[in-house]
Amino acid sequence: VKKKNVLDFIRMKKEGEKATWVTAYDFPMASFAEQAGMDMILVGDSLGMVVLGYNGTVPVTMEDCISHCQAVRRGAPNTWIVGDMPFGSYQISDEGAVENAVRFHKEADVDCVKLEGGQRVASRIRAIVDAGMLVIGHIGLTPQSSGQLGGFRATGRDVVTARNLINDALAVQEAGAYAILVEAIPPELTEFLAKKLDIPVYSIGAGEPCDGQLLICGDMLGMFQAFTPKFVKKYANIAEIAVEAFKEYIEDVRKGEFPNDDYVYHVKEGEDFESLF
Ligand code: KIV
Ligand code: NA
Repeated sequence: VKKKNVLDFIRMKKEGEKATWVTAYDFPMASFAEQAGMDMILVGDSLGMVVLGYNGTVPVTMEDCISHCQAVRRGAPNTWIVGDMPFGSYQISDEGAVENAVRFHKEADVDCVKLEGGQRVASRIRAIVDAGMLVIGHIGLTPQSSGQLGGFRATGRDVVTARNLINDALAVQEAGAYAILVEAIPPELTEFLAKKLDIPVYSIGAGEPCDGQLLICGDMLGMFQAFTPKFVKKYANIAEIAVEAFKEYIEDVRKGEFPNDDYVYHVKEGEDFESLF
């Protein structure tokens, strides 16, 4: 399969072709996504929760993101990869945001970066775009600033917050982002934004009527056990499969049934091992 570029994503919106998107944090998961024919991979800072065991995304560092992006690129050389800018990497200044976006590109070969926020990060988006990179905006439930929302909760369900999100979406487009992700907002608002904006609008937990869907691999594959948001459809239960497999292995070892003859390297024929012992 030919690797997609930004023009493919613009064309897909125009033609009503849905883009498929999942997170991955390491080589095997990236490889599975590419083998399945996924359009895009997000190396989300959700890696803090899904693979590092933090209870939020705030502790995730640039070094964490870069090293996971590198592994994902090795696993999915022909897939569009979005590097997620961690908390602190773009909050301080436009210059700092550009510097960190550059690191994602030079050190981890991402295709674009994503950062959270609307009107308040417009100058950051503009600065990164002016430096020659592609940006995806992210509004609605924004985990890095979820303290201000009162936790991981849906937003845009009332006129006041919905109006704010519309202004945020317009600001993101105006700032030069080539696409925007909306998280945990009502499908009615998602549909309005997808029609109103020229750039692709992708949803995570924001309903169907837009240009593509994202899910977190740990959620959809049943690996992340701390909680499951309402919007997640579980397509597999990897946690159950892994725990069952480990239990069987434990039992086999304790009973002396593993490894049996099938799993060992026997002495070569004709070798006189008796003389050795
Ligand atoms: O980090 C991530 O996986 C994300 C999604 C929750 C949108 O940003
Ligand atoms: Na994120």
